[in-house]
Amino acid sequence: MQFDRLWLNATLVTMDGPEGDPLGVIRDGAIAAKDGRIAWLGPRAAIPGSAAETIDCAGAHLLPGLIDCHTHLVFGGDRAGEFQQRLAGVSYEEIAKAGGGILSTVRATRAADEAALIASGTPRLAALMAEGVTTVEIKSGYGLDIETELRQLRAARALAAAHPVRIETTLLAAHATPPEYAGRRTDYAAHVAQDIIPAAAREGLADAVDAFLDTAIGFDARETAMVLDVAHGLGLPVKLHADQLRDDDGAAFAARHGALSADHIEYANPAGLRAMARAGSVGVLLPGAFYFIRETHHPDVAAMREAGLRLALATDLNPGSSPALSLLLMLNLGCTLFRLTVEEALLGVTRHAAAALGRQDRGRLAPGLLCDLALFDIRQPADLCYWIGRNPCTGRVVGGR
Ligand code: NIG
Ligand code: FE
Repeated sequence: MQFDRLWLNATLVTMDGPEGDPLGVIRDGAIAAKDGRIAWLGPRAAIPGSAAETIDCAGAHLLPGLIDCHTHLVFGGDRAGEFQQRLAGVSYEEIAKAGGGILSTVRATRAADEAALIASGTPRLAALMAEGVTTVEIKSGYGLDIETELRQLRAARALAAAHPVRIETTLLAAHATPPEYAGRRTDYAAHVAQDIIPAAAREGLADAVDAFLDTAIGFDARETAMVLDVAHGLGLPVKLHADQLRDDDGAAFAARHGALSADHIEYANPAGLRAMARAGSVGVLLPGAFYFIRETHHPDVAAMREAGLRLALATDLNPGSSPALSLLLMLNLGCTLFRLTVEEALLGVTRHAAAALGRQDRGRLAPGLLCDLALFDIRQPADLCYWIGRNPCTGRVVGGR
C-alpha cells in the first residue's frame, strides 16, 4: 500500500484501547496518512507499505490532536479590572447583577469590528494550538443582538480559514439578557429563538446552539427549552451551560433535550447525571472557571463515574470566569481539583471532547479517522497532567499535514 505520509519511531497513545486500557498505548509504533485520514497504525515492525514522505518522531509520544470543546475565544476587551474588584471582595454574581460581568464584555464586543475580533482572537488561538490542540470550539454570546452574534461567528470562521486548525462554532445568543431587553428576559429568549438562531442557520454560521440555563443570571427552563427546540427544528445539535452556580436540575434538562453535552455541572444532582449518561450526553468539566471564580462546590465526580458518564475537560477560555489559554493546564487542574485520573483527563481532551462536539471522526487514533495528531516530548502520558507550565508539544498535524 502506498501512503502519503508515515510517522515512525513514536509511542502511539491511541485513546482507543480495549476495556480497562483506555490509553491504548502502542510502543515503537508507526502511523500512516492517506488523503488526510489515518490509513493505518500499528507496531513499526508491521508497516504494510511505503510512503511518499517519512517522518522520524525521535521517540516522541503521539496522541490524537487535542480538542478544546468549550471556549468563548472571540470577544472584545478584557475584564482585568473586574478581577481586581473580585480581589477586593466583590463576587462574580454581584458584578454580573450590577451590569458588569458578561454585559461589560458585550459592550466591548459590540464596539469591535470583525477585523478587531480576529486580531484579538489570533494570539489566543495560537496559544492553544502551540500545545497540540487541533480542534477548538468557539461560542458567540457576547453580542446578544443578531449583528454582533453573527459577527463573532464570522470571526471564528475566519480564524479557521487562516490557521491549520478545525473550529466548531456554537451560537450562544442565550447567554445573558442584553440591556435593551432589561426586565424582559423572556422576550429576549423569544427573539433568540425566532430571529437570531434562524439567521445564523441561514448563513451556515453555527455548528451547534448553546444556552446558559441559570435561574438567577441566565435563562429559566421554559426560556431555554424555547431556544433549544428551535435549534433542534433547524437540525442543529444543542449544548448547555448548566448547574454552574446552583442546582437548577440542568443535567436532567440537558438529557431530556438530547444535548451533546452539559458543561460546568458542579452542582448537578446524581439523578440528572444518570439521565445524562443514559441519553449519551457528555459532561464537560471546566476546572479553569472553578478555580478562577473560587468555586468551592466540587462536581460530583464519584456520581459521574457511577453513572458511567463520559467526561470531557475544556478551558472555557473567556474574559470573565476563565482567562485560560492552556488546555494542558486544565489537565493538571482536572486531576488536582477534581481528582480525575490521568486516563479520565486525557480522554477528556481527546475522545470524549470529540463526543461533546458530536464529532465521531476524531479524538482517537484509528483507521478512517481524520489524521489530526499531536507530538509530545514526554516520558509517559501522565507527564501531560503532571507538569504545570511546561509545553512539551513538538509537533502537530492537521488532516495529515
Ligand atoms: O462559561 N457561565 C456563563 N458563561 C461563561 C462566563 C462568561 C463570562 O463571565 O464572560 C462561563 O463561565
Ligand atoms: Fe462557558
